[in-house]
Amino acid sequence: MRVGVVREIAPEERRVALVPDAVQKLREAKMTVLVERGAGAAASFPDQLYVDAGARIVTTAAIYSTTDILLRIHRPTPAEVELLHEGQVVIGLLAPLLDPRAMLALAHRNVTAISLDAIPRTLSRSQGMDALSSQANVGGYKAVLIAANAFGRYFPLLTTPAGTAKPANVLVLGVGVAGLQAIATARRLGAMVKAYDVRSDTKEQAESLGAQFVTLKSAIEATGQGGYARALTAEEQAAQQSELNGIIANSDIVITTAQVPGRRPPVLVTKAAVEGMKTGSIIVDMAASELGGNCELSRPGKVVASANGVEIHAPLNLPSSMPTGASIFYSRNISNLLLNVVSDGAIHLDFDDEVTAATVITNGGKVVQPATLKLLQPAPKGGAQA
Ligand code: NAI
Repeated sequence: MRVGVVREIAPEERRVALVPDAVQKLREAKMTVLVERGAGAAASFPDQLYVDAGARIVTTAAIYSTTDILLRIHRPTPAEVELLHEGQVVIGLLAPLLDPRAMLALAHRNVTAISLDAIPRTLSRSQGMDALSSQANVGGYKAVLIAANAFGRYFPLLTTPAGTAKPANVLVLGVGVAGLQAIATARRLGAMVKAYDVRSDTKEQAESLGAQFVTLKSAIEATGQGGYARALTAEEQAAQQSELNGIIANSDIVITTAQVPGRRPPVLVTKAAVEGMKTGSIIVDMAASELGGNCELSRPGKVVASANGVEIHAPLNLPSSMPTGASIFYSRNISNLLLNVVSDGAIHLDFDDEVTAATVITNGGKVVQPATLKLLQPAPKGGAQA
């Protein structure tokens, strides 16, 4: 069976789905590995390293036309979908719930689409396949480095002959995978860290990393389904914003990571909160996208300064800014998922397996995953599409 590794063409994407170290493992499982020319170059994995590991370097045309399985990071573009052939398997972070129609296009081409972001994350068996976590980890780390780099003062307490520097006050809003790594990284740099989340479980996790957990008087508890947060009501959100304002004003650095699945990210840092911050303070909004962000003033992909001199960073693809490390983790995740559906050198989809049932989005010319299918149902008469 032939497995192909594509060169990502998304703007600013420097990661690669499979690193040379993983090639041998796939060969041991009776797979032949083909790599599109230059696929790993931007992540510091030149073609020769893949050749040394036993892979073959091929053209773009060959990677699409001669492989049984394609490993990638992003969902294929419409032009790339045209290059796929019937019966081919595509594995990547396909984000089916963000664009279910793109999954329909894959089904119409009779391609089997398997999405890493659909794994049941709480199953212990699937943790080695959890690319959302591995990439969020990189993101949380890099967000703090961006803040430290942009900040005009030290993070740690420093006592020197020239005087004493006070430690920076860092506030992390949203204590999921990215937030926990942001806390750990800011603590390693010596900052004083406070953290806040609407899921009370996160208190203990944040404290175990050395952060002080912020409990609001309005005490919003918003644990939703599957361990994720639920969206707050308008009243809860207003109460949260107003209580957070004072804490934000006393912070030098605010890192925001709050997400609610399938919703716009909640606004936690309002324009008024930014206006209350000191000049030279830094916000890094990890939740920013075309859908909005956690800071009202964020501009996705840009760095902007508020009138009172607060710098607001809204990076769009932090894992790509650390492409080698992020690719090494991603490569492990995708290899584990691949090995879960391959036995004796052939693809075998067992829909009784929880991971397979959750991650196979299209198969046999149809969209088969229930959550994606639901989004493709026609909207009820007079109502908006779900
Ligand atoms: P995420 O990226 O969906 O959200 C980040 C954080 O933002 C979450 O902790 C969420 O509670 C918080 N948030 C949402 N709305 C908020 C608001 N209005 N104010 C403050 N905070 C808000 O989260 P992520 O990192 O994808 O993790 C989601 C869940 O999945 C967590 O419970 C995590 O522990 C769990 N998980 C479990 C794993 C496992 O059991 N092995 C592996 C990975 C994640």
